[in-house]
Amino acid sequence: MNADLVVVGSGFFGLTIAERAATELGLKVAVLDRRHHIGGNAYSENEAQTGIEVHRYGAHLFHTSNERVWDYVNRFTKFTSYQHKVYTSHKGEVYPMPINLGTINQFFRSAMSPTEAKALIAEQAGELAGTDPQNLNDKGIQLIGRPLYEAFIKHYTGKQWQTDPKDLPAEIISRLPVRYNYDNRYFNDTYEGLPVDGYTAWIERMADHPNIEVVLNSDFFDDGEYGRSSVLGQVPVIYTGPVDRYFDYAEGDLSWRTIDLEEEVLPIEDFQGCSVMNYPDADAAFTRIHEFRHFHPERDYTKDATVIMREFSRFAEKGDEPYYPVNTSDDRQKLLAYRDLAKGEKSVLFGGRLGTYKYLDMHMAIGSALSMFDNKIKPHFTGGAKLE
Ligand code: FDA
Repeated sequence: MNADLVVVGSGFFGLTIAERAATELGLKVAVLDRRHHIGGNAYSENEAQTGIEVHRYGAHLFHTSNERVWDYVNRFTKFTSYQHKVYTSHKGEVYPMPINLGTINQFFRSAMSPTEAKALIAEQAGELAGTDPQNLNDKGIQLIGRPLYEAFIKHYTGKQWQTDPKDLPAEIISRLPVRYNYDNRYFNDTYEGLPVDGYTAWIERMADHPNIEVVLNSDFFDDGEYGRSSVLGQVPVIYTGPVDRYFDYAEGDLSWRTIDLEEEVLPIEDFQGCSVMNYPDADAAFTRIHEFRHFHPERDYTKDATVIMREFSRFAEKGDEPYYPVNTSDDRQKLLAYRDLAKGEKSVLFGGRLGTYKYLDMHMAIGSALSMFDNKIKPHFTGGAKLE
């Protein structure tokens, strides 16, 4: 074996570790991925017919307020000035999202001031005042009142979970953002943008180091040069795959939601005029439609065709891509048991979205990888605390 460190998974978590270990410590790093490409869920490619960049595993918008992460990612790519904005199509009318004064005034056919709108929503939310909501439906009504909840949240959430919100635990939502001004920027972070020449170019630059060997189409649990049976106990391993899979599901399966994406190339220049349109009504089976040309208005894309993706959400079964942790109390119990087992694996560090069973945005995955590098990996190789 020709590596000082093995990284399982080439998503942003794994690549950040690999890049730091190779560049800062001069280590030889093998990065293993079972997919045919690097980048994990942030991978994108140009759709063959149109050349329009599509995010293969669902739309990815980069945003962060973390200075260190922003400095770090700018070593590998420049960012456009894209600012994410979402709209929602309810009963034949399009409204801005997240719910803001524009949404409220359009919905109630009014011209309320911020103070008036606040008073109205407080009055409507008062329907369940003083009660302790036991399900998501009641919680939603208590947070923003029945009219807005039923129009924009109820069926959307029901479709996301394939479950009537009356049967979902209240704890899934702690707040529903309502803005009493006309700001409809989706993210509040200091920095936001999309990689100028695409996600894959960015990701490839992170892996472009003579000390980094990328091994694709290779599952850590199969036999092979960098498979589990060859490397465990030989060199430290950073594992960013599903934590339950690592322990052969000994404590049971952690539950995940997944999404199905239905892609279509349409022979028109522009389908919906924006990058993401939500569909919060019960009559559409999908939750939203992405139109990828709008992520890069600065590019000279063809005017003859556009690429859209309808997004459907459902519970993941074995063999599906795990996307969002469901995180029931049962899952949290299992996770604690897996964390105990993980402590016993002295030369293995578990990280990333799948390895920690935590939804992580890209900047969070990168930030947490930089911390793991500083606190665990660097000391191990530079005479500080050893992993094993
Ligand atoms: P990630 O899942 O990216 O990578 C893990 C890698 O490990 C995968 O490539 C997998 O193939 C590999 N692997 C697993 N098991 C293995 C095994 N046994 N052997 C070998 N390889 C194995 N973030 C954001 O900032 N803005 C956004 O808009 C979005 N949008 C978004 C949409 C959807 C649908 C999802 C699911 C996620 C996002 N994200 C996001 C989050 C982002 O995609 C990603 O989750 C983070 O960058 C975390 O990266 P990781 O490296 O932890 O995991």
